[in-house]
Amino acid sequence: MKAIVYEETGASSVLQLQDRATRDPGPGEVRVRLAVSGVNPTDWKSRAGSGQGSTKLKTPKVPNQDGAGIVDAVGPGVTGFSAGDRVWLWDVAWGSDEGTAQEYAVVPSVKVVALPDDESFDTGASLGIPALTAHRALTSSEHGPDRLSPGSLTGQTVLVTGGAGAVSHAAIQLARWAGATVITTVSDDRKDGLARLAGAHRVLNYRTEDVVAAVNAAVPEGVDTIVDVNAPANLESDVEILKPGGTIAIYAANPGESVTVPVRESMGKNIRYQFILTYTVTDGQKQHAVESVSEALAAGALRVGEEHGLPLTRFPLAETASAHDAVEQGTIGKVLIDVAPLT
Ligand SMILES: NC(=O)c1ccc[n+]([C@@H]2O[C@H](COP(=O)([O-])OP(=O)(O)OC[C@H]3O[C@@H](n4cnc5c(N)ncnc54)[C@H](OP(=O)(O)O)[C@@H]3O)[C@@H](O)[C@H]2O)c1
Repeated sequence: MKAIVYEETGASSVLQLQDRATRDPGPGEVRVRLAVSGVNPTDWKSRAGSGQGSTKLKTPKVPNQDGAGIVDAVGPGVTGFSAGDRVWLWDVAWGSDEGTAQEYAVVPSVKVVALPDDESFDTGASLGIPALTAHRALTSSEHGPDRLSPGSLTGQTVLVTGGAGAVSHAAIQLARWAGATVITTVSDDRKDGLARLAGAHRVLNYRTEDVVAAVNAAVPEGVDTIVDVNAPANLESDVEILKPGGTIAIYAANPGESVTVPVRESMGKNIRYQFILTYTVTDGQKQHAVESVSEALAAGALRVGEEHGLPLTRFPLAETASAHDAVEQGTIGKVLIDVAPLT
């Protein structure tokens, strides 16, 4: 089979197309034939390493956490899946040398989720990192819910920063599905249009508008939860527009960045700061996220493509290095790799 492999960290040129043997799934494992691999910032960051030059890996790795395809074989003890099932995958390369930039991946069955017949592999390959992170962010308030469902956020207002990003796009769609009023911020007109297509009720251009004044006017009592892609820049204004007892969910920062917390103002509002790394949430939080995302998917609430606010940019498997570069360079929307033409 064809696989993209890297044996040392570094620039995208470390990614090499190789022919490799497939292996049989062991106990509790599923072998999946990949149709589409989804690329996230975490994939190029892992491949690039710490930035201190190249580091030789102990064992070769296949990149990319997210993907979708068809079950090819199931290992001993696996129930609920059989060959031919359409599935999406999450966190494949976390703690493993397997990734989704290859024709077949052997994955623990817990990371394999049914993909409805009427949902595309493109959608399936866009869920893992973005939607599971977004679910955790939207359920990090102490007032609950700990699992999203229709109506679970009714009456709540959520602010999602950077509304045209992949995680933000998922957060807007999940929050809408759960019944929240959704406000989002973006940096330009193109992203404004995309955030509206994703379903945001109100979109603010943070470069040209006074976000604090606009949100305070629209929601005088304050927003319940802020899903923040850039807390180091936004924290001060977040505190001003958050409701007492509200939550700021922080899931991104550039290397070495810190946030400065206005302590007295945060105390005064009893603000909760929730830091999130999707790989290390609890098993229960991950399970809730997978269940809710599956439910939202089945309800048609999670959509990808330009018309739904998440343009798709595609690369063939052999050009995985270019796909990584495209994500690193900030391509708007979702970058996907066509691994094999499955139906
Ligand atoms: N902690 C976790 O578990 C977790 C999970 C997923 C992603 N992440 C991280 O979250 C970030 C966003 O991921 P994504 O997949 O949503 O990326 P994306 O699709 O490239 O979206 C990033 C969006 O964030 C906004 N942004 C704000 N500050 C930024 C900055 N300093 N650099 C780049 N974009 C910035 C941009 O919107 P505007 O131009 O409108 O500001 C951009 O549209 C990445 O850093 C990623 O590594 C973390």
